[in-house]
Amino acid sequence: MSLASDTLAKPASLASLMAKARAQFPAIVNAEPFIFFDNAAGAQLPQNVLDEVNRHLVGHNVQRGGRYAKSVEVDRVVAEARVKVAALLNASNPHEVCFGMNATSFIRLVSLAIGQTLKPERSEIIITDLDHDADVATWLALKPMGATFKWWKMRDDGKLHVEDLIPLLSEQTRLVACTVVSHALGSLVDVTAVGKAAHAVGAEVFLDCVHFGPHAPIDVQAWDCDYLVCSGYKIFSPHMGFMWGKFEKLVALPTFREEFIPDEPPFKIEAGTFIYENVAGMSAVVDYLEDLGAGLPGGDKATTLRARLVHGLNGIRAYEQTLSEKTLTALNAVGATIYGVGDPARSIERVPTICFNLGDMDPKDVVEKAAAADIGIRDGHMYAPRLMARLGLSMDRGAVRTSLVHYNTYDEVERFAEFLRKLA
Ligand SMILES: Cc1ncc(COP(=O)(O)O)c(C=O)c1O
Repeated sequence: MSLASDTLAKPASLASLMAKARAQFPAIVNAEPFIFFDNAAGAQLPQNVLDEVNRHLVGHNVQRGGRYAKSVEVDRVVAEARVKVAALLNASNPHEVCFGMNATSFIRLVSLAIGQTLKPERSEIIITDLDHDADVATWLALKPMGATFKWWKMRDDGKLHVEDLIPLLSEQTRLVACTVVSHALGSLVDVTAVGKAAHAVGAEVFLDCVHFGPHAPIDVQAWDCDYLVCSGYKIFSPHMGFMWGKFEKLVALPTFREEFIPDEPPFKIEAGTFIYENVAGMSAVVDYLEDLGAGLPGGDKATTLRARLVHGLNGIRAYEQTLSEKTLTALNAVGATIYGVGDPARSIERVPTICFNLGDMDPKDVVEKAAAADIGIRDGHMYAPRLMARLGLSMDRGAVRTSLVHYNTYDEVERFAEFLRKLA
């Protein structure tokens, strides 16, 4: 995947542009001086998203599919959200976008469907020891349905290398399931190369894009994956999730059906009622990111929604690289053990989600002291038991994770550095 951030502006002017973006997040601004560095667990919402959720609830909080105006409006809002989220993903067809509760339930839905279609001669599923357990346990659950497993293992540098995947692939491989970026270590995966290698042996690719969503442009066509899942609530929407699949793959998936639900995507994937106001909120996230792109230098040359989204997210990516550099520098200065890419000069290989430990201090104590200093970070196993084992960390202690997004500032990183210095 080409993730070289474009040179939209120098870091200093990018920082002032991102400060304008920050001003749109009341939960962040109103909480100052509290520093929110726990974005990997769910991000905050810009004002236009809050307004849209409110507009939906006050104006048309009714069931879809009715003939009266309020119900027709819900149908319109959901259809519009599909078009906008399709632009965010670079999907060629909005009907490839399915809405629901969260990423885990979508991964389970796809895994159960794939489990039903396993053939003995093509029953291998490749999973990784870097992934969130939502993208591991859901696949391992297919063992009774005849699935066998191969592990694509992270190297000691905290990264998945496609060279290590290639020897695992064969005509027996049914699917490769992996993340786009680690929610724990922040390391990026070359998912375009994963797609090429897996398709060369006739296997499918399922991408967990949950952690990548807020950090850079998603491109399902360039990545040539088959299925991809996101949690909107990590990308500045209220709690909801969405899934994308190649249209013909979704058509072929055997899913649970009720007679009255059309047996076609996206409806066959969307069992039951989902939270329409939160889908409306996700739709407004796309507006927010589009405006951000339009407002960056060169944004006037982006003439389509997709181009403005890519421009905005490239701006976010460029700015976040400087946040990674500064945070890594602060952690190195106090001798922290950084898991994964720790060299600030290699920030291009990661997003600003950083796992570390400080000597033999209990991660829980570090996080409690941070809380007392008005800094919200997280400790624990990061829902990744195999990763903890690989890092030699116990499930009950784990590590400390700090996770930043574009509304975080250099001043906040400096206050975090100050906190670390006092602790060391
Ligand atoms: C990488 C990754 N995958 C999957 C999940 C599960 O997502 P959800 O809470 O939407 O089920 C998370 C949640 O933190 C995650 O970070």
